Amino acid sequence: MSDLYRVILPEDQIPTHWYNITPDLPTPPAPPLHPGTGEPLVPEDLTALFPMGLIEQEASRERWIEIPETVREIYRLWRPSPLSRARRLEQALGTSARIYYKYEGASPVGSHKANSSVPQAYFNKIAGRTRLTTETGAGQWGAALAFAAEVFGLSCDIWQVRSSFESKPYRSAQMAVFGGKAVASPSETTAVGRALREQFPDTSGSLGMAISEAVEAAAGDPNASYSLGSVLNHVLIHQSIIGQETLKQLELFEEPQIDYVFCCAGGGSNLAGLSFPIIRENLEGRQKAKIVACEPKAAPSLTEGEFRYDFGDTAGMTPKLKMYTLGCEFVPDAVHAGGLRYHGMAPLVSHCYHEGLISAISIGQREAFEAGVLFSRAEGIIPASESNHAIAGALRQIREIPPGESPVIVIGISGSGQLDLPAYVEYLSGTMPNT
Ligand SMILES: Cc1ncc(COP(=O)(O)O)c(C=O)c1O
Repeated sequence: MSDLYRVILPEDQIPTHWYNITPDLPTPPAPPLHPGTGEPLVPEDLTALFPMGLIEQEASRERWIEIPETVREIYRLWRPSPLSRARRLEQALGTSARIYYKYEGASPVGSHKANSSVPQAYFNKIAGRTRLTTETGAGQWGAALAFAAEVFGLSCDIWQVRSSFESKPYRSAQMAVFGGKAVASPSETTAVGRALREQFPDTSGSLGMAISEAVEAAAGDPNASYSLGSVLNHVLIHQSIIGQETLKQLELFEEPQIDYVFCCAGGGSNLAGLSFPIIRENLEGRQKAKIVACEPKAAPSLTEGEFRYDFGDTAGMTPKLKMYTLGCEFVPDAVHAGGLRYHGMAPLVSHCYHEGLISAISIGQREAFEAGVLFSRAEGIIPASESNHAIAGALRQIREIPPGESPVIVIGISGSGQLDLPAYVEYLSGTMPNT
């Protein structure tokens, strides 16, 4: 084991291919279904919403998908991302565990979301689309897509969940700086938004509602595509660069064996990004890492949901996905981790959980922020509200370590919390509800 603090790979080590777990799964995942006919989807069903390049990835059974050179070039703005040993956190905890964290918060927009927004904008651009529509929770995805749209000269309309739009004003400012236009959802700008406002006048909104609005807007405009920041296979595939880099970086740390991986889980994309390349190592017998999805108590889809077909949005406009779900009409409490307030979980993550390749726990927001403050004070990085759930999950495990054992723990820090500071202030003042 080396005495390094951080491993930053050179730019030429940015992966050349995305990893797709589908062909490596011991059993095939269930196909998405057409919302009207209930039949398995065919690519043509999706062409009104997505460009063919992304539809092909969605249905792909290829293990490795080449990353276009233009996309790799843009990835060079922030990739490879650092993998650090949390030595000062280890000292603060007095633990014998060796803790590593993969930090995605150093991207231009502050999270892992740019790993998918850039290829999504790229494939839309080459398909001739000129406008992107999307939903966003805490605003990290909206900012990432606004940035990527700007890079490729596309316009970008964003429906941001109302509770986050109101509690995180700097996030819509960030989207505006990148050239995106954000409105609070449900809004007056779509028929589904108006209907939801009439039915639930005081709603705090949800990702499911915002998705319905963005889908309606894209479906009604032949020049527009809808972009999703999580859940779908192609998004999870794009994020696989996180885990591929981590495996190389752990080699340089001289750590051949990973014991635990902790990631927060909203729709499942950062979890899949870090863990799927490691699950491949597990399946091929090279690793025995336990993967732990850390979801919020406010939206515990894996730990309390049902594994069944459900809509990805509130209004029932998307295809039906086989996933762990709390029901598409479920509206989570307005917790600060807006990016985790989703009723379902990515079908591929759900499938892995069902097959026992991933485990899951749920974490209340006070426990999450307690962990985030401890991490910030030790490592000097303030994590995103969402990422705090991963740290809290790791801390639970670390407290259980029997004397004499030194497990290797990898934590996915999916984003920076610089724009989440009001939530930290609420936690520090003792007024944060423990939802
Ligand atoms: C920083 C951060 N982490 C995690 C998430 C949750 O999404 P996913 O589970 O797709 O990684 C979000 C979503 O907005 C986010 O902004």
